Amino acid sequence: MKKDFLWGSATASYQCEGAWNEDGRTPSLWDVYLHENNLENGDVASDFYHRYREDITLMKECGQKTYRFSISWNRIITDLQGTLNPKGIKFYHDVIDECLKAGIEPLITIFHWDLPDYLEKLGGWLNRETITHYVDYCRVLFAEYGAKVKLWATFNEPRYYVFSGYFIGNYPPGLNDAQKTAQAAYNMMLANARAVELYHSLHLSGQIGVVHSYGPIYGIDDTPATRQAMRDADNYYNNWILDTAILGYFPEDLLTKLSSSGIKLDFIEPNDRAVFEKNTVDFIGLNYYARVMIAPYQGGETILKINNSGKAGKGTSKIVVKDWFEQIFDLPDTEYTDWDTEIYPQGLYDGIMMAYEKYQVPIYITENGVGAYEDVTKEEINDDFRISYLSEHIDAIMRSIKDGADVRGYYVWSTMDLYSWKNGTEKRYGLVAVDFENGCQRKKKASYYWYQKVCQTNGAVIESKREYNKNYLSMWDLNKEGL
Ligand code: BG6
Repeated sequence: MKKDFLWGSATASYQCEGAWNEDGRTPSLWDVYLHENNLENGDVASDFYHRYREDITLMKECGQKTYRFSISWNRIITDLQGTLNPKGIKFYHDVIDECLKAGIEPLITIFHWDLPDYLEKLGGWLNRETITHYVDYCRVLFAEYGAKVKLWATFNEPRYYVFSGYFIGNYPPGLNDAQKTAQAAYNMMLANARAVELYHSLHLSGQIGVVHSYGPIYGIDDTPATRQAMRDADNYYNNWILDTAILGYFPEDLLTKLSSSGIKLDFIEPNDRAVFEKNTVDFIGLNYYARVMIAPYQGGETILKINNSGKAGKGTSKIVVKDWFEQIFDLPDTEYTDWDTEIYPQGLYDGIMMAYEKYQVPIYITENGVGAYEDVTKEEINDDFRISYLSEHIDAIMRSIKDGADVRGYYVWSTMDLYSWKNGTEKRYGLVAVDFENGCQRKKKASYYWYQKVCQTNGAVIESKREYNKNYLSMWDLNKEGL
């Protein structure tokens, strides 16, 4: 591994900060949605707002060289009139300074899903005006922190945010509307291009990219129908973000397919195309949890069922997109978590190789990790399953680098246990345990000590013994051979 490879970990503002109504912060759409529906919320979360020094010290002791975190927009700009909150601005200066003092490179995610509620009330990402507000917010961040921070991500996972909020409906604003899904997706990608434009115009010495919830596509068999379904699924899951952000426009066959599926594309304005084309990202952040196994669409209506409880029973998730594809969640010969996430490290290797061959831009693996129920009251927290999960995924990255991919950093999700959106705090991802019942005390897990060795030896301790049977067609084969 190159000496400057960035080993680190990641969090997001709403998931860890807490202090939801302190020091001038106003609500985000998540605060309102969770409070109104009386659901488990992030009011306290991991209490990072008050404990960030301790957390950054733990990162430093672990040998981490980078920390990815997001900024809470509504902590910085508290209303529609653009009122700045000096205490909010100072908080992130303090976090950044603490990181730099510890030799930790901050990677800031500008938007990790917590849209200010004052914007959601005006239509959120369905409203083009939100793009203007977003760029104003970026301007504040670049002016405040641009001299200190070298790595910026415009958005965390546009796909997950948009599909969950507007299509599946399990996240706020809780809609199930294909037309609105397309429109929100489009506006978010336009906002991405506008933020890149602004950042580049300032000639700061850093890089800006987008973070994508990457789902490398595989096909259940090798038939023309499966190949076509894979292409449609790749457009649906990946290409509208990656092609658009890196190559400068949406795939033409995606736009055609949307039109033939009854989506009106009248939200596209004639001058937008040039904005996309001129303002492409410097790098991509790929969040990898699982591959996506695709079969041809068999019939019936669209079904979008996600197992958010981990108790619903494996194989509860079901995704059928009418006339596009079906996603398989219960392959016989592979392993899944209780939340129906397949454990398939080879998908990370394949995914990196596919993305690098296609796009030729630097890659950061901006999230990777495994969520589980864990008893954190024990003296020692032996999360061996996490160690083998992370080890196999890091091995996949190291193999991809050996094979020529330009991967520059790796972020374990997550730095410490945090609030896992609709899955609550019970679904734990952290290297460090947070005892949510007892004042959010921190305790290092076995995986923390193991990751310390990984960071300190620059990956030399990684060995993976997993053997892979190549049973399925991958998008990689399909890209090479054509449809
Ligand atoms: C990513 C998000 O999609 O996955 C994180 O960027 C999220 O915010 C993580 O927490 C794990 O998903 P979940 O739903 O298990 O928390």
